Amino acid sequence: MSNIEQTLSIIKPDAVERNLQDQIKNEFKNKGFEIIKEKKIHISKDEAEKFYKVHESKPFYNDLCAYLSSGPIVVMNLQRENAVLENRKLMGATNPEDAEEGTIRKKYGISIDKNSVHGSDSAENAKVELNFFFKD
Ligand code: CMP
Repeated sequence: MSNIEQTLSIIKPDAVERNLQDQIKNEFKNKGFEIIKEKKIHISKDEAEKFYKVHESKPFYNDLCAYLSSGPIVVMNLQRENAVLENRKLMGATNPEDAEEGTIRKKYGISIDKNSVHGSDSAENAKVELNFFFKD
């Protein structure tokens, strides 16, 4: 049975700053993702805090929110079969040092903070996160 899903992907400030957005978009397209919607935005710290609210209690929360709001980002609605899992596989481990060869974070990530991309971690969160950036 097919399981076409949508998931949220963010190209983070470190990657946009290095002009990697087209290369990263091609990584997704080459793996069969369709970019249904996309926009380049610069969010406030307040919005970043809302987006990352699940991490509120973590020691890295403040730096994480400061970082996501530090420059332009590209947010995308990606669609394909098993999009949530396939996007997580393509991104690789959170820390680029631990990410497998060929993954986006291995190729482009600089550090655990500047890890180039964010992706929803479950189908349920994908709905919440897509709604956060693409309300209509
Ligand atoms: P992301 O997938 O965007 O979700 C939360 C982010 O917090 C994560 O990627 C990392 O960039 C960042 N982060 C910083 N420190 C940590 C940590 N110790 N564990 C997990 N995520 C971290």
